[in-house]
Amino acid sequence: MNKFNVQDQYSKKAREQGYRARSIFKLEEIQDKFKLIKSGDNVLDLGAAPGSFLQYISKIVGENGGAIGIDLQKIESLRLSNVETYVGDIFDDKVYTQIDIDQFDVITSDLAPKTSGVAFMDGGRSFDLNLKVLEVCEKHLKKGGNAVMKILSGFSEGELVGPAKQMFKQVRKMRPKAIRKSSGESYIVCLKKI
Ligand SMILES: C[S@@+](CC[C@H](N)C(=O)[O-])C[C@H]1O[C@@H](n2cnc3c(N)ncnc32)[C@H](O)[C@@H]1O
Repeated sequence: MNKFNVQDQYSKKAREQGYRARSIFKLEEIQDKFKLIKSGDNVLDLGAAPGSFLQYISKIVGENGGAIGIDLQKIESLRLSNVETYVGDIFDDKVYTQIDIDQFDVITSDLAPKTSGVAFMDGGRSFDLNLKVLEVCEKHLKKGGNAVMKILSGFSEGELVGPAKQMFKQVRKMRPKAIRKSSGESYIVCLKKI
């Protein structure tokens, strides 16, 4: 099997299992390793379209928990009773006032800027998104809560990891196998908000 097929097996697996995107397998690997999300949790998912993270989170949190997704793009109904979605920009604080829940157990972010192909520009936009994710964690994540956020290479990670370490007991970097070899993505996993 060549490299392309190894990677593309995740797209095939996503289709077979009824997930809207192969991204689900990145979150699954992170969840298997760090157990970020528990049954009964309320989870806020930033950059949630088309919705594979939400599909997966819905199963973990079960009927006593919930998942709320925000994205610039409309998320077609997932027909899941414990999932709500909102169209909005994560930088627009009005979007958070529409949501009934103010404090979440977990915040996930798979936010990705429109990429230009120029690593330092794309990395810079991803950095800005993640600074906002940290601000959302500051305001809307419970004490003891966990977060995960996608980063793109092309900027100094220390500038993000530093503030994250001030807010969380543990901060780890992970590059799940489901990330395409050609991609500069990885994830910062933040455990136990102080
Ligand atoms: C890789 S996709 C997310 C895939 C998703 N995790 C899934 O499993 O289906 C990244 C998303 O980030 C969204 N996004 C980028 N900038 C945003 C912003 N400022 N506010 C809200 N969503 C944003 C994009 O619209 C895009 O849908």
